[in-house]
Amino acid sequence: MKKRKVMENDLVPTHISVFDKISFGGFKRNSINLLAGNPGTGKTIFSALFLINGIKYQNEPGIYITFEEKKENFYKDMLSLGYDMAKYEKQGKFAFLEYTPEQVRNVLVEGGGVIESMIDKIKAKRIVLDSITSFTLLYEDELAKKEAALSLFDLINKWDATALLTSQNEINSDTEVKVSLEFEVDSVVLFYHFRHKGVRKRAIEILKMRRSDHSEKVFEMDITSKGIVINPNKIVKFLD
Ligand SMILES: Nc1ncnc2c1ncn2[C@@H]1O[C@H](COP(=O)(O)OP(=O)(O)O)[C@@H](O)[C@H]1O
Ligand SMILES: [Mg+2]
Repeated sequence: MKKRKVMENDLVPTHISVFDKISFGGFKRNSINLLAGNPGTGKTIFSALFLINGIKYQNEPGIYITFEEKKENFYKDMLSLGYDMAKYEKQGKFAFLEYTPEQVRNVLVEGGGVIESMIDKIKAKRIVLDSITSFTLLYEDELAKKEAALSLFDLINKWDATALLTSQNEINSDTEVKVSLEFEVDSVVLFYHFRHKGVRKRAIEILKMRRSDHSEKVFEMDITSKGIVINPNKIVKFLD
């Protein structure tokens, strides 16, 4: 087995294209990070690659908790990108937890439960929750949603792991993004898929990163059979 490589003391590299460059090193260790965007913008692929690369390059096991994806479909999609999730699962480096939002609500009431024992079992260092939107939909008003999200964050903070949460966001105009949990998380990454002169284009932007420098630009992004490709030289201007 490869020896664990410690890159930076307090940063968790994603090894996703040039994301580590534009984020000046990756996510903060044990932070909570929001990936926001419309459906089909690449949030699931990004978060899956974050886990896969953690296993491959950092020897950091990961857990994917989802309310939306079916295990079989997810494994198939990842296999088409060249990743054998079943193999990682057998090696005890990856766990797929299909949860209903209600089950997660119970976890909040009862404490960590199945999720926590799974984290302990595989010693997960990276956690993805896809998506927080379906979880907050359980709660009716904005205040209750926010309180529920905050207790979820409290729970995640107890785990010794870096978390990515995906969020379906209403992007009303190209520049106006409503991210209601923005002020509660350590970073917000925005994913775009928009039409420009008759062609659909993808883009990625780091909206904020607490206590850390990052690029302020919006970069062109592609999803290919190789995964996510961010072009550091193509700054998207037509969103302005
Ligand atoms: N092998 C591939 N080649 C090109 N595009 C792909 C490939 N796999 C998935 N995609 C694109 O990625 C999109 C799905 O991204 P996904 O991460 O599921 O979005 P989200 O989670 O934000 O809804 C699909 O709409 C599809 O266009
Ligand atoms: Mg998704």
